[in-house]
Amino acid sequence: DAKAITPPAIRSRKGQAPLVCLTAYTTPVARLADRHCDIVLVGDSVGMILHGLPSTLGVSLEMMIMHGQAVRRGLQQALMVVDLPFGSYEETPQQAFRSAARIIAETGCAAVKLEGGQTMAETIRCLATRGVPVMAHVGLTPQAVNISGGYRVQGRGDDAERIRRDAFAVTEAGAFAVVLEKVPEPLARRITAEIAIPTIGIGASPACDGQILVSDDMLGLFTSFRPKFVKRYAELGDQAEAAITAYAADVRQRRFPAAEHLYANASKTGAVA
Ligand code: KIV
Ligand code: NA
Repeated sequence: DAKAITPPAIRSRKGQAPLVCLTAYTTPVARLADRHCDIVLVGDSVGMILHGLPSTLGVSLEMMIMHGQAVRRGLQQALMVVDLPFGSYEETPQQAFRSAARIIAETGCAAVKLEGGQTMAETIRCLATRGVPVMAHVGLTPQAVNISGGYRVQGRGDDAERIRRDAFAVTEAGAFAVVLEKVPEPLARRITAEIAIPTIGIGASPACDGQILVSDDMLGLFTSFRPKFVKRYAELGDQAEAAITAYAADVRQRRFPAAEHLYANASKTGAVA
């Protein structure tokens, strides 16, 4: 739609008011986020958050497209970005373009996100020069969990240079923004000052040009584990647990359904309801 925020508009917000970003995987959450967020990301975190997978490695292009279609129906304003899942882009820039083109054509999103810095620069350039705006993702990259051996802070000490080079590389390759995940505050601050595109932090300090969180994490709906960088703005999981407990007790004691939930034999107009 004409009024939706565009990738160039996001890029031009570098150094201005912080960009507000959140993940969504469903229409109702997309609708809620749309009113308050600049970017809504259909993250491959959907695999762990909604499908119970042990990591993001088992997420398919089809899953991303199905959740992308659901999110698209809930958005009017926010820029919609969809993650390229593991295995759909790393082989060649050509493979990445095919996957991105399918996601864009089938979901109506305006941009894709992919993980990797220097090693993905050629791929980012290929996409960005062929009609596919790219949001990059450096620092902790969850799709590399089997290489890194866990979800640890990245870029401490001598490792900082690697993350800096990654951030420069994706900027130079034409990414319109970059997610910085789980890096020390001084490094996030330095990279944000050094590169020309907005940095979107997750566990990367308020020095970044924007922030992103996983919606189910900040709502307290996903509680299997809780990284230090997650702030819980609600405890919806606890509320849901209490609601289901009450429902089960009501049914067992025949308190539900009650009179107001029942249908009479005939409606007041005489028609069968
Ligand atoms: O998949 C995801 O939700 C993400 C964000 C946490 C940046 O990549
Ligand atoms: Na992701």
